[in-house]
Amino acid sequence: MKTTVSPSSIAPILRGLILSEASFSCMVKVRAEDQPCPKESLRFVADGILPNAEIDDGELAAALKKALSPHEAQNIRNQLRSGDTCVDIVTTNGATIAQYHLVPLEPLDRRYRTAIQAPGDESLLASAARASVVRGKIAFVTGGAQGFGAEIARGLAQSGAVVWIADINLPAARSFAQKLAAETDSPAVFAVDIDVSSETSVQRAFETVAQTTGGLDLVVSNAGILKAGSILDQPVGDFRLVNEVNYTGFFNVAQHAARLLRLQWLGAPDWHTDIIQINSKSGLEGSNKNGAYAGSKFGSIGLVQSFALELVEYRIKVNAVCPGNFFDGPLWSDPQRGLFVQYLNSGKVPGAKTVEDVRAYYEAKVPMRRGCYGPDVLKAIYYLVEQAYETGQALPVTGGQVMLN
Ligand SMILES: NC(=O)c1ccc[n+]([C@@H]2O[C@H](COP(=O)([O-])OP(=O)(O)OC[C@H]3O[C@@H](n4cnc5c(N)ncnc54)[C@H](O)[C@@H]3O)[C@@H](O)[C@H]2O)c1
Repeated sequence: MKTTVSPSSIAPILRGLILSEASFSCMVKVRAEDQPCPKESLRFVADGILPNAEIDDGELAAALKKALSPHEAQNIRNQLRSGDTCVDIVTTNGATIAQYHLVPLEPLDRRYRTAIQAPGDESLLASAARASVVRGKIAFVTGGAQGFGAEIARGLAQSGAVVWIADINLPAARSFAQKLAAETDSPAVFAVDIDVSSETSVQRAFETVAQTTGGLDLVVSNAGILKAGSILDQPVGDFRLVNEVNYTGFFNVAQHAARLLRLQWLGAPDWHTDIIQINSKSGLEGSNKNGAYAGSKFGSIGLVQSFALELVEYRIKVNAVCPGNFFDGPLWSDPQRGLFVQYLNSGKVPGAKTVEDVRAYYEAKVPMRRGCYGPDVLKAIYYLVEQAYETGQALPVTGGQVMLN
């Protein structure tokens, strides 16, 4: 693919090369000319590359790989072992192309490489601990400011991942990021503004990621909305809105994530990365008077399967998790606008006189007699990340409420 030589297009490739050649996980942050460096910068000459040139991204990756000869990769590894490091990429005549600040992270577990040669390879061994699957990785969670997204962001941060909380509600994302940074082991928690239904907003968010952490290892496309309504009278505007966020929004996020992850893959062809959509049990079976939502989720599974087939070439796995109802989350339990209150007021549950009656009615539909929680979803995410031999799947987490054929 054609790309413009710029600090943001080089950053993910550089992160990939460092992962692969120097065996180190790090954030790659674009550095301004006047930003001080803790120690002297390492300078790499990218032969034949000029700033702002339009070139094939494979050529750009090859030039950067050549600049990071085995000796230079060793040099980066040694520097990163002792802390933050600065790297300058320059032309053959010494002009600056890009400057970065590298922040070391925990080493990634080499068992999670996908390059499996034979039975007995370390990639086939069972994980030491579930959390180690994401430790030292960089994750991006849309709709991360509340509900399932916040639970997922919290779990990833507790497991030692750098976490991006991307949400249309930026103040909530910022305050949650601050809270998480204080309460977890995460090396960094970032907040970024995103409206997944707007292509420009999604593009801007991924540009911020490229400039701040260089690349990503896990993208959780979680942002979603629900507007229930009968086919007999639901306004088409509501139908469109749900699909703009849940269906087109997933397309937008997957597209910009895949572009970034593909650039990183050019530097790290052995590492796999993950795009995981938080779908729903309503993506696996119809939902009465909730067609806009169920349709957007069924459609997204078609996208998951199709993107998985295409992106497997770049070692990007694409899967969906289909949770059951998160009764304790704001969607159901918000005292003013939550579904329990709405269903009580609309008489949807025959004989229900209180919110508790409505809840009991829905809990009784689940063979395991409870709603879904964040950690239930997290376990599914960890499984999908660790499992190097699966893509394009929709994994139910429903307490037995939905069983696959
Ligand atoms: N709550 C459930 O019972 C349940 C069950 C199954 C699946 N899900 C799915 O889980 C995901 C999260 O649901 P939830 O119940 O936690 O939702 P929620 O309403 O509690 O939180 C959604 C978050 O997404 C953000 N958001 C909304 N529109 C956005 C947009 N256009 N761009 C970016 N961010 C946006 C909101 O600000 C909020 O922080 C959704 O995809 C939903 O379909 C939820």
